[in-house]
Amino acid sequence: MEKIVILTGAGVSAESGLGTFRDEGGLWSQHRIEDVATPEGFARDPGLVQGFYNARRVQAAQALPNDAHRALARLQQNWPGEVVIVTQNVDGLHEAGGASQVLHMHGTLAGALCASCDHRWKAPDEMKVGELCPSCGAPSGRPDVVWFGEMPYFMDQIYDHLAEASIFAAIGTSGQVYPAAAFVHEAIAAGSRTVELNLDPSAVVSSFDETRFGPASETVPAWVDELLGQRGTPAPA
Ligand code: APR
Repeated sequence: MEKIVILTGAGVSAESGLGTFRDEGGLWSQHRIEDVATPEGFARDPGLVQGFYNARRVQAAQALPNDAHRALARLQQNWPGEVVIVTQNVDGLHEAGGASQVLHMHGTLAGALCASCDHRWKAPDEMKVGELCPSCGAPSGRPDVVWFGEMPYFMDQIYDHLAEASIFAAIGTSGQVYPAAAFVHEAIAAGSRTVELNLDPSAVVSSFDETRFGPASETVPAWVDELLGQRGTPAPA
């Protein structure tokens, strides 16, 4: 049965009120990446970094899933084959929208990681500088978010999924950060049909068979209805 692999980026959560990174006024116009999203930045000023993620953690916890998140969950529930969601996002809105199989390749705001012993636990709303690890007791707690220069999570599983994908969709991502931006090439090599659903053309838009422009809360439900309609699954009333 046809497997669908979906890559999402910040654009899928934009209409839930969470900022994107590279749009006008985005997070990277407010903060320098090297200060808040690198291990060196954390070593230099852990208070600045903890504060950056504390603010995003509180904001993400208050955000609600939008129709794009819900449509992807509906696709997972109704598609006869496997639907794998690989997200670059660190918010929990895919799960809040009802999705099950979600691979957070850049980690999650809800997670905390011990830089000393690799123990992981549920992050408190506000992480302090020198947050104590509940396992080894070292003052080495950090957000369990993948920073620039660090290896994204689940890469072996992701490449296995891409090698089996019949359909690959990239939703709400600018295609400027690797390895995610190259997933479309893996999918093409596997013979997938590829589609980009985005507000603006991504940096890798020319690699896709099809592009649908517009806000994710409109383009994603329409795309899911079409896919499920092809299978005779009724669209929601
Ligand atoms: N609907 C659909 N797409 C949207 C919407 C929307 N409402 N709003 C914005 N977009 C699109 C933009 O056109 C852009 O292509 O979402 C994309 C957001 O791009 P980025 O801000 O670069 O976010 P993303 O691609 O997820 O960044 C990838 O970079 O900084 C790192 O780790 C961070 O995971 C992040 C990675």
